[in-house]
Amino acid sequence: MKTYTIGSLPGDGIGPEVAAEGLKVLQAIADIDGFGYDIVDYPYSGEHYIKTKELVPDSIIEEWKTLDAVFLGAIGHPDVEPGLVERSVILGLRFGLDLYINLRPIKLYAEHLCPLKDKTPDDINFVVVRENTEGLYSQIGGIVKKDMTDEVATVVGVYTGNGVDRAIRYSFELAERRRQARGEGQSAKLMLVDKANAIRPHDIWTRRFAKIGKEFPEIEQDHAYVDACCMWMVKNPEWFDVVVTTNLFGDIITDLGAMIQGGMGIAASGNIHPGKHGMFEPIHGSAPKYAGQNVANPLGAIAAIGMLLDFVDEKKSSERVESAIEALLSSGRIPSVDARSGLSTTEIGDMVVGSIREQAS
Ligand code: IPM
Ligand code: MG
Repeated sequence: MKTYTIGSLPGDGIGPEVAAEGLKVLQAIADIDGFGYDIVDYPYSGEHYIKTKELVPDSIIEEWKTLDAVFLGAIGHPDVEPGLVERSVILGLRFGLDLYINLRPIKLYAEHLCPLKDKTPDDINFVVVRENTEGLYSQIGGIVKKDMTDEVATVVGVYTGNGVDRAIRYSFELAERRRQARGEGQSAKLMLVDKANAIRPHDIWTRRFAKIGKEFPEIEQDHAYVDACCMWMVKNPEWFDVVVTTNLFGDIITDLGAMIQGGMGIAASGNIHPGKHGMFEPIHGSAPKYAGQNVANPLGAIAAIGMLLDFVDEKKSSERVESAIEALLSSGRIPSVDARSGLSTTEIGDMVVGSIREQAS
């Protein structure tokens, strides 16, 4: 029997509650599809930092490299300096394991979840590939003369040829897989999103996109500046198929993406070094105001488990998660993806497990 070793970082706030439901779903699927897994628990979180003053040690990054995948609930605590633990854990994983792809599917499962007028599941089904190790997240820069009138803060946006190429190539390959999955005569489109008009060094993206694009003549190639991209995502989301963009722009447009697919409660993401390492997480935060009440919607975490299964190549298992979520949302059995669905966190997890078992039998 195939057995995976999965690191689990439940984290803060609603993180442990939603992560538990993700693991519940994983257990049910492992039983059906006959694979095994060992969970290795890690305590790193804001809560843990308050108690111990410990962030992620370098030795743990080395240990994470030996795992098949990592699953993360949510990180962030209101009583800890903003970003300290997020940088240690989330960016620690992304940079430490060189997880250069942040894959963020944006899929509307039921029309009533969408805040946009007259948009249906046919209109909203795309994927954002966020470059995940460079850009304005480089951590290069700093502050001098703090709090003086002539204080200076700088941050360097880093875009390397290799970093840009690998994100673009992955995106073209993803678009090609989507094209092939659609069948004979169907097309797929890749859109580059940057701000090369105002930020001229973003031209590195434009040039390398055009060059790599020559290898993919079957893929329709498109471009939008990030401001226009935000407009189109609201006005014509049906124009989007695969998007590739910089780290910060990807961060921003995927919150917008989460809203047009129904809310932060459903959005999941995979931080991936293809063929090597992967970390999977819901894109929502720790939502302290909902913590400990069993009301947070675990669908984002459950969808992240679906992505994790795809990454470890349990494709059929991954599809089970997707079709259960689809069935429950489109039928209205789960009426919303926020904390006001009238269903508890654990009930939703149970419903997903029930739907998976039903579809498997
Ligand atoms: C995300 C988050 C993180 C990011 C934060 C928590 C560091 O917003 O995953 O989208 O900026 O990447
Ligand atoms: Mg974000």
